Amino acid sequence: MKICICGKGGSGKSTVVALLANAFQKLGKKVIIVDADESNASLYWMLGMERPPLPLLDLAGGKKAVQQKMLARFTKGETEPAMSIWARDQITSEAIPSEYIVQKEGRCMVATGKIHQSLEGCACPMGVVTREFLKKLSLAPNELALIDLDAGIEHFGRGVETSVDQVICVVEPSLESISLAGKIMYLTLTAGASFKGAILNKISTVEEKALLSAKLTELGVPILAALPHSKNIQSACLEGRPLNDFPAPAEAADILKALQLSGD
Ligand SMILES: Nc1ncnc2c1ncn2[C@@H]1O[C@H](COP(=O)(O)OP(=O)(O)O)[C@@H](O)[C@H]1O
Ligand SMILES: [Mg+2]
Repeated sequence: MKICICGKGGSGKSTVVALLANAFQKLGKKVIIVDADESNASLYWMLGMERPPLPLLDLAGGKKAVQQKMLARFTKGETEPAMSIWARDQITSEAIPSEYIVQKEGRCMVATGKIHQSLEGCACPMGVVTREFLKKLSLAPNELALIDLDAGIEHFGRGVETSVDQVICVVEPSLESISLAGKIMYLTLTAGASFKGAILNKISTVEEKALLSAKLTELGVPILAALPHSKNIQSACLEGRPLNDFPAPAEAADILKALQLSGD
């Protein structure tokens, strides 16, 4: 199963990816984490990895090469800038060169690539590489892929969601985050992809959870689980410590149940 995590910037996407990776690992799954956020570089240390992998964008020939291939298709009048980044039809985790995949304790991580320079151009090539990589990624029966997307909805413009099995949205207690969840559900469904629902995050009180749930229900967004606001998570993220000991078993079980992956 390939599951992508999206939502508003700062809502907790990367945190939730790290927490879900813990939960899936405890289930005995080999978790392949795909860092598809071109801005933030925090995911590798949240996962307890010593270094980030080299970017898949480099494996596809570098940003300029990808941009040129996209432009060539565009000028030929092909609306969809689909491109083959690798010759083979399928990519298994074993086939990825070791510098491009960091492994640690039953998990591994790959990354599309980051923006490093001002005026280097837009992030479209990253979106295309993410989509094509996910399309070709062939999972073994015991493997599961978790994709940490960039904030907002730009990835929908590149069709990244069409390469995954489930879309999950992280929602923090704010109106912007709630309305974005509604939009993400709409964009997912109209892309012909499967929208699983929302994980509420940073919940401080019962009332807050009830209000958030009511507003999401009004929009038709299913609720998968609710994670409390945690001082421990906050300080781990401030100090740069891995999130290996979270989430609480009850919340993890809720999420797994919603994904029909029993933790029992
Ligand atoms: N459940 C939580 N409790 C407390 N702080 C949280 C929680 N989830 C996320 N955060 C904090 O919110 C900030 C943004 O989280 P992050 O996962 O980086 O968001 P995103 O990937 O959506 O931009 C982080 O500094 C993290 O400490
Ligand atoms: Mg993030």
